[in-house]
Amino acid sequence: MAGLGLALALAGLLILPAASGLPLRPGPRDEVLAAALQRLREVFDIEELPPDVLPRKKPPQFMVDLFNKVADANGITRAPGLLESDVVRSFEDRVHVDQHHFYFDISAMEKGEQMLKAEFRVFKLKRTHVSRRSDVEVYELLESGSKPQKKHLVASRLLSVYTEGWEVFNVTQAVSRVLTDSSNHGFLITTTHVFNNRIEHNLVKFAKSQGTLQESRNALLVLFTNSNKRRSSSFIPSATIPSAKSQVTACHRRELYVDFRAIGWSGWIIYPNGYNAFYCRGSCLFPLGESLNATNHATVQSIVHTLKLSQDISTPCCVPDELKSLNLLYFDDKENVVLKNYKDMVATRCGCH
Ligand SMILES: *[C@@H]1O[C@H](CO)[C@@H](O)[C@H](O)[C@H]1NC(C)=O
Ligand SMILES: *[C@@H]1O[C@H](CO)[C@@H](O)[C@H](O)[C@H]1NC(C)=O
Repeated sequence: MAGLGLALALAGLLILPAASGLPLRPGPRDEVLAAALQRLREVFDIEELPPDVLPRKKPPQFMVDLFNKVADANGITRAPGLLESDVVRSFEDRVHVDQHHFYFDISAMEKGEQMLKAEFRVFKLKRTHVSRRSDVEVYELLESGSKPQKKHLVASRLLSVYTEGWEVFNVTQAVSRVLTDSSNHGFLITTTHVFNNRIEHNLVKFAKSQGTLQESRNALLVLFTNSNKRRSSSFIPSATIPSAKSQVTACHRRELYVDFRAIGWSGWIIYPNGYNAFYCRGSCLFPLGESLNATNHATVQSIVHTLKLSQDISTPCCVPDELKSLNLLYFDDKENVVLKNYKDMVATRCGCH
């Protein structure tokens, strides 16, 4: 019986220093506008703005599918818990050494970002003239240069040679070592193939970006991380709120569309084009009906205000009572595609507080 042995080792996570915050690029003349855009970048946790005009490359289908799974067309999170991390970063294999080496530059990771899971995704191509199954092994390289290279087995599995499709390897431990130990020399994929007691190398192939293959089959390193940053939940671009007409309308929710094209971010944000943040406006006068979603505290405050039991007590405030998170799929400044979840970005209901 012919045994097919296939060994993989993966190579080349280069660690570069994390991008440092740079001042806003010249552009807006107006200081207020510049300050507002700066604040907006802080809210969206964008340290370095990607170039205005990115080459219109296609985002990896895996990332688009993930966005559609967790968010609706406006980017609003469909249900809590669909995504186990705040941030999902994808890194495409870009360096072409040969058909069997895969390199990922993960320098876009930010300081303090905590990695929860790492997946190495490769598209296995089918072979028609060989059948049966092959033994696939994934190695990380522990040394560079020397031959043979010292390596460490990361994962192994049996695969059918004549099917094609995505193979996902759990490389969490290996990538953790890269992030904590700067002496790491990356990963290398090689394949060996045992057939009729003869060892053949690199018979089974995985898709590479170069050549005739579709870009959508390009190998990916996907990192699920938590940014561990407190993001502002109180951002409301007040300049876009229409001026008050009537103060007597009861507290209610109104539309507030944030258009990424108007902000000049549409070049690098893939989805959505914009989103409705909503805002709350209106009065919280006694008696506070049930629809005003008043807290007990607000009810007491409105009574004290109405009866003038104490001086300088205003009515309660009409504020967001429930907020949902927003998801953005975007190109970072190194053209990696990132899915990020921002907490408390969309007011789903208002109330008197
Ligand atoms: C991936 O590997 C990590 C570290 O070895 C492990 O803790 C985790 O459970 C694995 N995940 C899956 C889905 O197998
Ligand atoms: C209060 O909550 C209810 C139920 O969620 C909602 O229908 C209503 O619009 C909310 N009130 C305001 C002022 O948003």
